[in-house]
Amino acid sequence: MPGVKVTGWGIGVPDKIVTNDDLAVTLDTNDAWIQERTGIRERRVGGTTSGLAIEAGQQALERAGLTPADIDLVVLSTTTPDAMVPGTSATVQDGLGITGGAFDVNAACSGFVYGLVVAAGMVAIGSGRVLLIGADTLTRITDPDDRSIAVLVGDGAGAVVVEPVEGPGNLLSWNLNAEGSLRHLLKCDHGGYLFMDGKEVFRKAVRVVVESAERALADAGLGVDDIDLFVPHQANLRIIQAACQRLGIPEERTAVVIDRYGNTSSASVPLALDDALAHGRAKSGDNILFSGFGGGMTWASAVLRWGE
Ligand code: ACO
Repeated sequence: MPGVKVTGWGIGVPDKIVTNDDLAVTLDTNDAWIQERTGIRERRVGGTTSGLAIEAGQQALERAGLTPADIDLVVLSTTTPDAMVPGTSATVQDGLGITGGAFDVNAACSGFVYGLVVAAGMVAIGSGRVLLIGADTLTRITDPDDRSIAVLVGDGAGAVVVEPVEGPGNLLSWNLNAEGSLRHLLKCDHGGYLFMDGKEVFRKAVRVVVESAERALADAGLGVDDIDLFVPHQANLRIIQAACQRLGIPEERTAVVIDRYGNTSSASVPLALDDALAHGRAKSGDNILFSGFGGGMTWASAVLRWGE
């Protein structure tokens, strides 16, 4: 069975920047509260899930030196599809001019890490090259007057090309987890707005991120010092810091973009990965630990060796 390597990456974000001060014009909130409690300074707002996904996908293809004809499958992780039917992956496939299969994965903010594992599984059974995209437009399902959520979310997309290689490949370990009995903590009913029990999500998130990351490290036969880059879901800087502290991963080995993008759900991990790569923070042979958590509740970790 073929293994995988990641050969291209890219992002798509709306041009419109909304700062904390912008939000404070209409909401009973302020820049100091938002920065202190969440680490967020600004977020991007606008676009559609498919539009942002197409932009990210195009960039990832260019970086990999590939054309749409080289891709065999589109996997789109999203919790904010353009419509109930069809799957937004089909719109993305059409927009990029790709032929072959296309399907959506919905694991909320764990979506990209779930998608990475799904892509590797598809490659293992012979799918060929996969374009994996995490894209979300959480602002579309957020009540702009609800300060408990509106200050947290942003829109965006990130993509990677997952290619088959001979041998075991670069996905060293993974685990996927869900606890559906906690679905009431983070939810959005049809036609409704996002609801979150922030305190409970916070408590649970730190615990499961640490437990899942430690399991992924053990399964990969690695220690925490072997991790060159930690790319966690960007929901709250304090969650990231608490998880890093418990895991023993220093800040300089952690990718953080929440200050610029807020919580972009399925897009947050690839946005953070792209930023780290743009700053030369991962080179071929480095071990990257990915971690996601979110509605479901779901959580997931994966260790990927970067490059060839
Ligand atoms: N601006 C100003 N004050 C606010 C705001 C705001 N935007 N929101 C709440 N407050 C007030 C509250 O009313 C409360 O006031 P009180 O003390 O008079 O009652 C006070 O600030 C403290 O509120 P808390 O809810 O206790 O604040 P907390 O420190 O818990 O931070 C937060 C809230 C940021 C939501 C945090 O709990 C969190 O980040 N939780 C996890 C979020 C997360 O990880 N989500 C996962 C994925 S999200 C997704 O999937 C969409």
